[in-house]
Amino acid sequence: MKVLSVASELYPLIKTGGLADVAGALPLALKAHDIETRTLIPGYPAVMKAIKKAVKRIEFTDLLGEHATLLEARHEGLDILVLDSPTLFERSGGPYVDPASRDYPDNWKRFAVLSKAGAEIAAGGLPGWQPDLVHVHDWQAALTPVYMRYAEVPELPSLITIHNIAFQGQFSASYFPYLGLPSHAYWEALEYYGTMSYLKSGLSTAHALSTVSPSYAEEILTPEFGMGLEGIIANRADDLYGIVNGIDAQVWNPATDPLIATPYASGALKKRQANRAALTTRFGLDDDDGPIFSIVSRLTWQKGMDLLGEVIEDIVSAGGKLVILGSGESALETQLLAAASRHRNRVGVVIGFDEPLSHLMQAGADAILIPSRFEPCGLTQLYALRYGCVPVVARTGGLADTIVDANEAALAGGVATGIQFGPVTADALRRAIQRTMRLYRDPKAWAQLQKQGMKSDVSWGRSAERYAELYQRLVSKGH
Ligand code: ADP
Ligand code: GLC
Repeated sequence: MKVLSVASELYPLIKTGGLADVAGALPLALKAHDIETRTLIPGYPAVMKAIKKAVKRIEFTDLLGEHATLLEARHEGLDILVLDSPTLFERSGGPYVDPASRDYPDNWKRFAVLSKAGAEIAAGGLPGWQPDLVHVHDWQAALTPVYMRYAEVPELPSLITIHNIAFQGQFSASYFPYLGLPSHAYWEALEYYGTMSYLKSGLSTAHALSTVSPSYAEEILTPEFGMGLEGIIANRADDLYGIVNGIDAQVWNPATDPLIATPYASGALKKRQANRAALTTRFGLDDDDGPIFSIVSRLTWQKGMDLLGEVIEDIVSAGGKLVILGSGESALETQLLAAASRHRNRVGVVIGFDEPLSHLMQAGADAILIPSRFEPCGLTQLYALRYGCVPVVARTGGLADTIVDANEAALAGGVATGIQFGPVTADALRRAIQRTMRLYRDPKAWAQLQKQGMKSDVSWGRSAERYAELYQRLVSKGH
């Protein structure tokens, strides 16, 4: 089967979060199921720089009035289609925001053009390669199924995956005339309380919907988590699937990871010590045996990062240490940097995005804190499991689905892999940290937790199989 995937991020070329990891790893895992994926992404500067040997395939002379060239390339096992349009994508900021972190004012157009190019390829626009199905990710690609619906060629089956419903691609209705869609498409698909919602339009037109964990698939049917789209999703409940993410087991393998100080296999936990020491040096921490908690995260409300300010003192006064790698809301960045300068040697903060450091943190920290208010799947807890770093997670979404809480029964049965807590409040987080510290001080129980975590199946194996089955079902239904 041939699948066109449309995404706005793709590891290892361009990444702001887990979407890139998933868009990059799933096609590799699907190869075992005879599924050949080509992934369409925008030609951001980082992408253009990395794909030197690209071949020019098509010129689009009028994608919403823009000119673009479709390039084809292979990169680290991935087949990539790059939409090269310097006016839209050659920018000095990130994929979505300028260097001052403001959304680009023409995001409505940048991602409509990407989506339109996806629909053109679906309709046979790429000579010699006709996909059987189209899989789009998040709001940035959500207009692809909409363009497919209103095209004058038979429609291919389509699947839209929601990685994060908080980002919906909501734009002024005044742009609608420029999208090149028939006027009835506005009311049928795009209209959202007097504005346009790209995500909503994709959710109402794609043949199937999925999200990245079974629990989150349930949660988004409720007003608390649906963020306004719960009604639309409830209408599509029969076509909604929850498939938990896996991880790229080659990129994230402590036994072979070139980005950590000393590689180690699951039977050799003692070797983590060298990574712990490297992490201690890197953050200038005291070299004692108090537990090192870590955070690798976007610094946002979703991730519960505002709660940290209330627990840092507790971690430090109980003899723990904390290392943070992240970027995001500037008030949170300032608050965390201030905490680090108050507690030199106990709290270390790096503001920024640093892929190699994120690996060392998984290899060297004792536990990772993930107090998310909502979490569609979450990948850092999966990396942590593989690296023997104990996840301390909020009981929500994919975190609830992937971590087995160290309660009495799970500890006695030897199945616990981490610590879960709820509700997401500073008090509950504080209690979870205390519980973690008690377990840490019991070396046998702690080693058992680490080993059990490292045994968890966090690979794409089962989930890739579920995607393959879903694709097959959609293709054999005729959509
Ligand atoms: P989300 O996509 O919501 O941010 P996930 O847990 O699914 O959350 O994925 C986050 C991904 O981004 C992980 O691969 C994590 O290691 C990475 N990451 C997050 N922040 C940073 C950072 N500051 N530096 C390096 N990697 C980061
Ligand atoms: C989103 C979600 C995260 C998920 C990732 C990949 O960014 O916030 O929970 O793991 O997408 O699916």
